[in-house]
Amino acid sequence: MAFQIPRGTQDILPNEVERWQYIEEKAKDLCRLYQYKEIRTPIFEHTELFLRGVGESTDVVQKEMYTFEDRKGRSITLRPEGTASTVRSFVENKMYASPTQPVKLYYIGPMFRYERPQSGRYRQFVQFGIEAIGSSDPAIDAEVISLAMNFYRSLGLQKLKIVINSLGDQESRKMHRQALISHFEGRIGEFCEDCQKRLHQNPLRILDCKKDRAHELMNTAPSILDYLNEESKSYFDKVLQYLDDLGISYEVDPNLVRGLDYYNHTAFEIMSGAEGFGAITTLCGGGRYNGLVEEIGGPATSGIGFALSIERLLAALDAEGIELPVQKEIDCYIATLGERAKDYSVSLLQNLRDQGISADKDYENKKIKAQFKAASRLEAKYTIVLGDDELEKGVANVKDMSSGDQQEVGLENLVSFLKERL
Ligand code: HAM
Repeated sequence: MAFQIPRGTQDILPNEVERWQYIEEKAKDLCRLYQYKEIRTPIFEHTELFLRGVGESTDVVQKEMYTFEDRKGRSITLRPEGTASTVRSFVENKMYASPTQPVKLYYIGPMFRYERPQSGRYRQFVQFGIEAIGSSDPAIDAEVISLAMNFYRSLGLQKLKIVINSLGDQESRKMHRQALISHFEGRIGEFCEDCQKRLHQNPLRILDCKKDRAHELMNTAPSILDYLNEESKSYFDKVLQYLDDLGISYEVDPNLVRGLDYYNHTAFEIMSGAEGFGAITTLCGGGRYNGLVEEIGGPATSGIGFALSIERLLAALDAEGIELPVQKEIDCYIATLGERAKDYSVSLLQNLRDQGISADKDYENKKIKAQFKAASRLEAKYTIVLGDDELEKGVANVKDMSSGDQQEVGLENLVSFLKERL
């Protein structure tokens, strides 16, 4: 029986992987510019972390986690997202005591959600995320959003839309919650089972329901923006002002709720507006989570971050017809004719590589013509053609594959000849 890859996962094969590497490098470069440092946390955590961190009433926790017992009967979960783990590590390693605040971290790695796979939605996907923990300055909210936008722009994406909302502080949310309950209570029987449960558990979640999206009460639901207290309102205004200062345009959407429970104040998503992009247009999501560090056992500390998946980013690049300038070609291919030349090519190849020239040769005893074909297939910039006769004379022919020009070069000058031209 042939094995098949599990549903909702994918192999990233050579040729495709270069795009991933390019994107990951861009992310790392940008984080260096903004002074976010990489953090690597385990791929699995104690399930309790996500129950507490992400929230028991969320779809992620209720329906989408890969949870299992280990051999000692402990409940373990493959991480569905990176914020809870990052905050766990922040608390566990007492990063709140660091003299440099906020602590600015980023991660790139696989996340796992048992969702119904479709275009742009996988069961294993790679998130690039950042978290700035330890500052409640609205300027950091603007920094986080601008990093995400600059990342997309640096890759060439143009058809982007930022949707932003404020979920307010605890007090504002409490008032809003009450208003939501009163709004839906009388007709909650018309909503799905999940929403009925959500009514008292977390009525904000109702607004995020996929099944009841079209219900008339959805459009008339009380807007959080009408319930923001002075402090929350002026915080949000300041974030928007900084975005204006940075020339970042956005749309305020009071219905933007986000699917995870830890958010308060700023919540945002970046969507693709490219034609032909699939049904799921959200590329990136993030927001502020001022209570999360405390919830996970640390001192009251505010935080904000975002995450985006490389899979959806690639889909957006495809939708906008953007080709990344990934380097696939190699500098040099060695084609040989004759046994002695073949033997000689082994150390010549090593010489080239030692000098930082990417190079390859034939390992299948191919005829010279087939070796030339291989050189073209690999998009070699130069092909060194070496026969026993040339070897005798201490020379090789170097062919510039783009112009077709060929030149005889002394073996001792080969490396410097190529280095000058590459
Ligand atoms: P999220 O909205 O659940 O937020 O996910 C963020 C991003 O991850 C999405 O916008 C999407 O690009 C990607 N994503 C989510 N699920 C899938 C999937 N099944 N397949 C492919 N891509 C997916 C979070 O995860 C928060 N931790 C973000 C955050 C960081 N908030 C504050 N800090």
